[in-house]
Parts: sequence; C-alpha cells; structure tokens
Amino acid sequence: MMKIAASLLSGDFARLGDEALRCARAGADWLHLDVMDGHFVPNLTFGAPVVAALRPLTDLFFDVHLMTLRPQRFLDSFLRAGADMVTMHIEAIEEGELPRALAAIRGADRQAALSLKPGTPAESVFPWLEQLDMVLVMTVEPGFGGQAFMADMLPKIEALRGEIARRGLDVKIEVDGGIGEKTIAAAARAGASVFVAGSAVFSARDMAEAVAGLRKQLTMNN
Ligand code: DX5
Ligand code: ZN
Repeated sequence: MMKIAASLLSGDFARLGDEALRCARAGADWLHLDVMDGHFVPNLTFGAPVVAALRPLTDLFFDVHLMTLRPQRFLDSFLRAGADMVTMHIEAIEEGELPRALAAIRGADRQAALSLKPGTPAESVFPWLEQLDMVLVMTVEPGFGGQAFMADMLPKIEALRGEIARRGLDVKIEVDGGIGEKTIAAAARAGASVFVAGSAVFSARDMAEAVAGLRKQLTMNN
C-alpha cells in the first residue's frame, strides 16, 4: 500500500494547525513532521510541544522524523505527544543505545524507523532490520526542503528492498527529499512505498491535485 506523507516543513509555520488540516483534506495519508536541532542538521524547527498541539486536530498518521543528535533523549516526549512513527538517524545515536531506544518505541505500540543520510550505506541498518517497521532513505542532505532528488540513492533503496525480501521481513521503505511527479515513480520502482513530499504539495496551487498527481504517477509507472 503506497502512502503519501505531506511534510509540514514546507507549510506556513504561523498556521501549522490549519496546514495540517489542509494536508488531511488534500488526501495525504501521513503527516511528516521534521524535527531539527541545529546540531545534527544546520537548521532548527520544532519539538514535541508542537506535535502535541497538533495531535487533537486530526487523526492523520504522525510520522515524526527526528534530525537530532542522541534522539533517545526525546523519545518519551514524542511518544507522549502522539507520534505514530518515530524515525531516528542511525548516524545520530550510539550503537549501544539503539536496542533500548527501538524497544521504547515499539513497547509504546508505535512504529520505529531508522534513517540514512545520503553518505550512509544501506548495510548500516541491516543488523537492526528485525526491530524496525520502516527504513527512511534520505534522497537529499537533511536540513532543508526544496532540494533536488539524488537519483544516485536508488541503488541504496534497491539494496534495502533486496535484503528485506531475502529475510522475509515486513519493513517499509520511505524516501524523503525532492519527491515530486518526476521522481516518485523511480523511487517506487526501486522499492519505496512511503513518499515524503514537502515543496511538491505545498507549492502547488491546489494541494489535492498535487497529491492526486503523485498517486497517478505511482499507478501509471508501476
Ligand atoms: C529535509 C526533510 C524533508 C523535507 C522534504 O531534511 O527531512 O522531510 O521536508 O522537502 P521536499 O519534499 O521539498 O524535498
Ligand atoms: Zn523529513
């Protein structure tokens, strides 16, 4: 089942609640929430209080992408805020902390994911696949919306898909960065099933048309 995750990062930060509702009305499946700490990435966004404030407004699936150093420090607050999926960057957490962090997320009956920056190989998440619901493959350097899709990440998606299938696991692959009508089908063919779209949906004149346009590419090209 293919999912479109609208990224609030490209929304109007003075009206985040309205923007979340607009994503729901436009037919997005998930709301992607980009948490940036100014250290792991050179940008700052918002934290758990903002996620908690949005939670009562919509039943959209909240896909929280933590771009923070030592994300395990914040898990409890994002779980309490109502995150449905929590994604940590594998580059940002010590290996010894990972089992407990993943168990904390899944123990709260939420989904757990690890994300890979463009320079991090697929193999780095292989030891953790059994404990994951999803792997997020960044197709831009994390930190900012509106960047160009890195097609050279497609082999990484294929490698992940191959390993997940070989081990008979049920782990989704999400792509984030530069997804639009021209790039979504290639990501799907490589093995992704969750597609983050920020500028592609927020810069459109009609967001519902933009979401439908992305879905159309998925049905036409797969
Ligand atoms: C970037 C964020 C993305 C961002 C994508 O670091 O993780 O989720 O919103 O924006 P677009 O779709 O514009 O590339
Ligand atoms: Zn993101």
